[in-house]
Amino acid sequence: MAEGKMSLPMARGAGETSRRDLWWLQPLAVFLGFSTFIGYSTWAAFQNDHYTYGSYISPFYSPALLYSPTQDAEKSKSRAHEKSSITRADEQKAHTFCGPKPAWWPGFLPFSAALLILPFPGLFRFTCYYYRGAYYKAFWADPINCGVGEPRKSYWGENSLPLILQNLHRYALYAALVFIVILAYDALQGFIFINDDGSKRFGVGVGSFVLVLNVCLLGSYTLGCHSMRHLIGGHRDELAKSKTQKKLYDCVTCLNGKHGMWAWFSLFWVGFSDVYVRLCSMGIWTDFRLL
Ligand code: FES
Repeated sequence: MAEGKMSLPMARGAGETSRRDLWWLQPLAVFLGFSTFIGYSTWAAFQNDHYTYGSYISPFYSPALLYSPTQDAEKSKSRAHEKSSITRADEQKAHTFCGPKPAWWPGFLPFSAALLILPFPGLFRFTCYYYRGAYYKAFWADPINCGVGEPRKSYWGENSLPLILQNLHRYALYAALVFIVILAYDALQGFIFINDDGSKRFGVGVGSFVLVLNVCLLGSYTLGCHSMRHLIGGHRDELAKSKTQKKLYDCVTCLNGKHGMWAWFSLFWVGFSDVYVRLCSMGIWTDFRLL
C-alpha cells in the first residue's frame, strides 16, 4: 500500500485564502442588510409618532403598552379620518393596551412605545443560531468566511461572558411566540375600518395584506426556530410514538430547513410594514381600498 503524506492546514493571515469564488459577497451583503435594518428600526423606534393609520399599527410598536403623543400628533387629524375630528393622538390611544405614560416616568429617559417592546424581538433575532453564523462573519470576521484567515488567533467560543448570553435564545423564543399572537390580532384588526362617525365595518386595504403577510413571514421564521424544534420534539425517547407531536415536529423541521430565508424575508417585511404604516400616516402613500 502506497504511503501518503498528509499536510496540516496552514495558518493564514487575516483575509488570506486560496478560495477563488466571491467569498466576500455574502458577509458584505449581511453587513449592509443588517446595518440598514438596525439604522432604520432605531430611527423609527425613537419617532414615537406615525405608527398608526386607522386600524393599522406598525409591528415595531405593537403591542403598544403606553402612549405619550407628540404635540403634533395631538393637533393633527389622522390621515385615515380626515373628514372627522379624530387626531393621530386619538388613534394611538385606541391602539394602546394600558394607558398614558405614567407621571413618574423620568424626564431624562426618552419615551416611545416601541422602545418598551423592541428589546424582546431584538434579543430573539440577535441570539438566533442562523443570525449568529451570519453576523459573526459579517461584523467581527470570526471567521470572515469558511477557509479564509481570521484577524485573531484565539477562539472566543460561547462558554463565557459575553457570548454565553446567547443561550438566552430559548427564553427569547417564548416571548417571540407571544408577539406572533399579538401581531396576528393586529393583522385581523387591519380588516376592520372605522367610519368617520365612529362605527366599524369590514374592509380590505392594501395595508391589510401588508400586515397579514408580515405575521405569516414572522410566524414562519419563529416557528422554524431551532429551539422550537427542541420544544416541540423534546421530552420523548421516540418521537414516532406520538403521531401529533411527530407531525408538528415535521412541520417545524420543514420551516427550519429554510430558516435563513425566512429570517431575511421576515426582517425585510417587518421593516417594510413600518414604512407602509408610517408613509400612509404621513399622507405620502395612499392605502388603496379593495373593499
Ligand atoms: S434559531 Fe433562529 S430564531 Fe431560533
